Amino acid sequence: MTPELMSEGAARLEKHKFKQVQSPSSGDRDASYSRIHTPGELDLTHGRILYLEDVNVSFDGFKAINNLSLDIGVGELRCIIGPNGAGKTTMMDIITGKTKPDSGQVFFGSTIDLLRHNEPEIAQMGIGRKFQKPTVFEHLTVFENLELALKTAKGVAASMLFKLKAEQKDRLSEVLHTIHLENHLLRQAGNLSHGQKQWLEIGMLLMQDPKLLLLDEPVAGMTDQETERTAELFLSLKGKHSLMVVEHDMAFIRQIADVVTVLCDGSVLAQGSFDDVQDDERVIEVYLGR
Ligand SMILES: Nc1ncnc2c1ncn2[C@@H]1O[C@H](COP(=O)(O)OP(=O)(O)OP(=O)(O)O)[C@@H](O)[C@H]1O
Ligand SMILES: [Mg+2]
Repeated sequence: MTPELMSEGAARLEKHKFKQVQSPSSGDRDASYSRIHTPGELDLTHGRILYLEDVNVSFDGFKAINNLSLDIGVGELRCIIGPNGAGKTTMMDIITGKTKPDSGQVFFGSTIDLLRHNEPEIAQMGIGRKFQKPTVFEHLTVFENLELALKTAKGVAASMLFKLKAEQKDRLSEVLHTIHLENHLLRQAGNLSHGQKQWLEIGMLLMQDPKLLLLDEPVAGMTDQETERTAELFLSLKGKHSLMVVEHDMAFIRQIADVVTVLCDGSVLAQGSFDDVQDDERVIEVYLGR
């Protein structure tokens, strides 16, 4: 092949890739037809960001996850509810690479097999996770915490020579606004309220611009007012990011819910609108009626 033909081919490939990125949710019509794909690239052409299929995990013979199948749409805010021990946190452990399942499939988009990747790689690919307890750096200011999150995203070596560029400053002020902390920039994180610490940690995740955010009991321990603001925050993130939110606070779930998935004994018991699952006899029996 002549160099001209090669560069022409490369240009075509670039153009095609660009088109793909521009239309991430082109529906499910011609998703695999004539698509050129770079290995490891996130492919959202089927409109789904996460697929779990027939996933199983046992701990010492106890089946914590039992033939679990579930998928999340691009830009969706999915709520996950269910009784203690249902497997909600374990499911997040599997998605983020903390726990390897015994069997089943877990895909990020339609081409990235998450079971082939470890925890840091999965985080790097754009899956952010918020644990229940806030893990901000208490002795640093709000600003320093957010700045640090950017550095982590860039990698340690690059961060040695790191200075905030204009676009990163823009991102930082956008995130500060989103998490309602723009008036607390220079406060030490340790002096923030519990709710503000939770928002700061969410902000740190947002600095890395994750495609998918997993949030485990984000409003536990928050005041009613903080819970309300968190609901608004999540609703504002929907569409820009895909979110999976696990919560026991049903008032909060009602406020943010689009599709609710009910987990029980490691698999999906019911799924639908908030009203659908609230009226479901099986859900009332195992969870809501308690
Ligand atoms: N690493 C582990 N080793 C042994 N058992 C585990 C492990 N992780 C989870 N389990 C068990 O798996 C089951 C599911 O736990 P999981 O924490 O996923 O539930 P959950 O739905 O998050 O509950 P909660 O609402 O209380 O947070 C529980 O019975 C738990 O004890
Ligand atoms: Mg849990």
